[in-house]
Amino acid sequence: MSEAEIGLIGLGTMGSNLALNIAEKGHKIAVWNRTASRTKTFAGNAGELAGNIMACETLEDLLQAIEPPRPVILMVPAGDPVDQQIEALLPLAGKGDIIIDAGNANFRDTERRAQELEGSGIVLVGMGVSGGEDGARNGPSIMVGSDKAAWLRVEGIFNDIAARYEGEPCAARLGPGGAGHFVKTVHNGIEYADMQMIAEVYGILRDGPGLSAEEIGSIFARWNDGRLNSYLIEITAEVLATADPDSSVPLVDVIQDKAGQKGTGRWSVIEAAMLGVPATCIEAAVAARSLSSLKKEREFASRRYPQITRQQPGSTAALVAELETALLAGKIAAYAQGFAIMRAASDEHGWDLPMATIARIWRAGCIIRSQLLDSIAKAYDAKPKTTNLMVAPAFVDMMQPAHLALRVTVGRAALHGLPTPALSAALAYFDSYRQARGTANLIQGQRDFFGAHGFEKIGSRGQKHGPWSARAGKK
Ligand code: 6PG
Repeated sequence: MSEAEIGLIGLGTMGSNLALNIAEKGHKIAVWNRTASRTKTFAGNAGELAGNIMACETLEDLLQAIEPPRPVILMVPAGDPVDQQIEALLPLAGKGDIIIDAGNANFRDTERRAQELEGSGIVLVGMGVSGGEDGARNGPSIMVGSDKAAWLRVEGIFNDIAARYEGEPCAARLGPGGAGHFVKTVHNGIEYADMQMIAEVYGILRDGPGLSAEEIGSIFARWNDGRLNSYLIEITAEVLATADPDSSVPLVDVIQDKAGQKGTGRWSVIEAAMLGVPATCIEAAVAARSLSSLKKEREFASRRYPQITRQQPGSTAALVAELETALLAGKIAAYAQGFAIMRAASDEHGWDLPMATIARIWRAGCIIRSQLLDSIAKAYDAKPKTTNLMVAPAFVDMMQPAHLALRVTVGRAALHGLPTPALSAALAYFDSYRQARGTANLIQGQRDFFGAHGFEKIGSRGQKHGPWSARAGKK
């Protein structure tokens, strides 16, 4: 009997929570997991939602349970497992069926898979889902890449389960093929930069005036009521306020300072580099995670180069106020870079990405949700072709005073030997971007000198060469 509206494969934490969310919103869902016992346990624990859940023992049962055209969500680890699952579905699925990859896929894999399915009648939807476990259960932000017909089939369900911002669902079809997964990748790139800058500010407060985790936590909690209001600031306050149950010292103080990464930050940087878009804040954040894992090397180096004076001059209150503003300026630069990557990718791949919609569906549910995203949505609504957020009028008003605090923060941190790679990258990006006459004229001279690569001369057309070319290569 085909009564389910949708199916889901993969009952890990994210898959289970998404399935419960769908069932809770009144949609009948068929579920299947490779390990059958997990399906049974899941259905057994579904409580009053069990009526909307059809637990299937085989893939055949799953497909038979769904009303055609059959949408099936894959919530399996990104990479090979997705290919294997598609492979397993192929002989069972038919024309019009829709496979929805809801994992953190590389958009290039999504494009390849969509192409491989072409001609089979089966449609691939690449769907970025943000918000972690809680988001999946109670309302994630959903970024979709698909053809229009497939989206029409599933739009109702995803609008129902998505987070809401002032009543509007945070779910949208953003373009064809890999567009949704690309936007999710950049979301994560911005997430990396945001988290890194927060960590740098934590480092300044910890290693400068020597504040405790608890004290820093309450500063973040206060900031969350102001301009920096965001999920990441909110959870940072909570992380800093949490005690280690074994020792009762702040938990953060006993966590190894080595950060993991699964790849989406790195993909953002790779794609930005290939598109020729500067994404220095995201790069700095990815590099900082890599550097954090070199724990032994850092310990060795720290003995060779002992710490420079730990004292911060001035009052802690003034420092805190300055850091709040510096963090805002850094965040604006990071978001400007993320949106610039998406703009360039949109042109490159012909996606016509709706920037204002992206900002809107990131206002709730996702990890980088923040007050700032509402201003970003408004800026793109006012001028959809905004080249860089830093020149949108509302952001100029924010950046004008804020860059001074960023400057002082980065300068002071440098003098005290405290690393601020992402905040420094933000400042250098801002200063480079607002410099009408930069220094690439010299680079062009050098390139022409050693390689006759040519340059454009101010006030005249066409490629020119310098008189130095005759000397190039002479000892
Ligand atoms: C989200 C998160 C989610 C996941 C990251 C973590 O939007 O819900 O970004 O996708 O937590 O992939 O990535 P790292 O393990 O690379 O930090």
